[in-house]
Amino acid sequence: MFREKFSQIDDNFAYLDNAATAYKPTEVIDAIEKFYRLENASPKRGLYDASVRVTELLESARKKVADFIGADADEIIFTSGATAGLNMLALSLGASLKGGDSIAVSKFEHHSNLLPWRKQGSVKYFENAGGISDKAKIIAFSPYSNVLGAANQNYIESIFARAKEIGALTVLDCTQAVAHQKLNFHELGADFLVFSGHKLYGPMGIGVICGKRDRLKELRPTFWGGEMVDDVSITGEILAEIPDRFEAGTVNVAGAVGLAAAVDFLQANGFDELLTYEKQLASKLHQSLQNIPHLYLVEHANFTPATICSFSIDDVHPHDIAQILSENNIAVRAGYHCAQLAIGEPTVRASLSFYNTETECRHLTECLGKMRSIMHVR
Ligand code: ALA
Repeated sequence: MFREKFSQIDDNFAYLDNAATAYKPTEVIDAIEKFYRLENASPKRGLYDASVRVTELLESARKKVADFIGADADEIIFTSGATAGLNMLALSLGASLKGGDSIAVSKFEHHSNLLPWRKQGSVKYFENAGGISDKAKIIAFSPYSNVLGAANQNYIESIFARAKEIGALTVLDCTQAVAHQKLNFHELGADFLVFSGHKLYGPMGIGVICGKRDRLKELRPTFWGGEMVDDVSITGEILAEIPDRFEAGTVNVAGAVGLAAAVDFLQANGFDELLTYEKQLASKLHQSLQNIPHLYLVEHANFTPATICSFSIDDVHPHDIAQILSENNIAVRAGYHCAQLAIGEPTVRASLSFYNTETECRHLTECLGKMRSIMHVR
């Protein structure tokens, strides 16, 4: 059974904070350990065998990740995570904005897909495609909110249609989506897509920007340094090819190898079936939560909660709920979840993965059912 592949899984502890970070299967940990034990060398630079081999490992990981999201290898840039990727895009794309141009950001975004844009220019928030001004040159949104769940198809399609109508670039934060939906970059039609490895059962410290070839050609590097130029003179430099020009410094090859191992793991264990299972589990959890008096699920018409259950309980602070759940061996997140505009009020968030079980969900609902009496609320 695949649960055995996750050494952190403990039948006496319900880890329901998967939207924050996911457990890593043994294959991922082994791949990273093997890299540092046996392979470690500087990629792209050395002419000796170990360096060549590490470069091959990096490029093979790039190809694997590209295949997983329906992209080509030369469309993949490795970053240190989604936050880095979104900041890189905001800095680079933001620099080309002119007076009067604006950036449209959905009000459902995680702060990582909001604050970097806000620092670059005039941000206008939208709730639906109709709210996107024709002055918008960039539209940033997520197809899977970390507090509201999976965005509905109509909402997504109408934003792409609006982008086409006004000639705006689209940037998708797929940090949550990548672990809970099958993505196909070419079918989606976005200009850029960004995610982190650690929510996809891979290591922390590795992430991806995926961009259309023509868009990547127009993109100015954000970081400057080693191995991203082909020639340097006193007065200037010639950039290396894509993706190298966007990967200044020593790339996190161990992270890329770990991420590729996560992709292998998901494919070997039937990613489709894993997604179906977690969706069914989440749907049952939602139904049970709906039956708890004084508990309110946070929902929005543009989203289906899917693996995300955000809720509040009358007269009990979310932090108290999370603390009591913790005392009952249940891990959830409480607060604004770095998405303050999306929810307005703090909530508790239980977020599921395919390794969660009905027993864990039952334990959660039983504890929540008693919450008000534990807190002496009448
Ligand atoms: N973005 C992560 C979360 O939603 C950390 O918890």
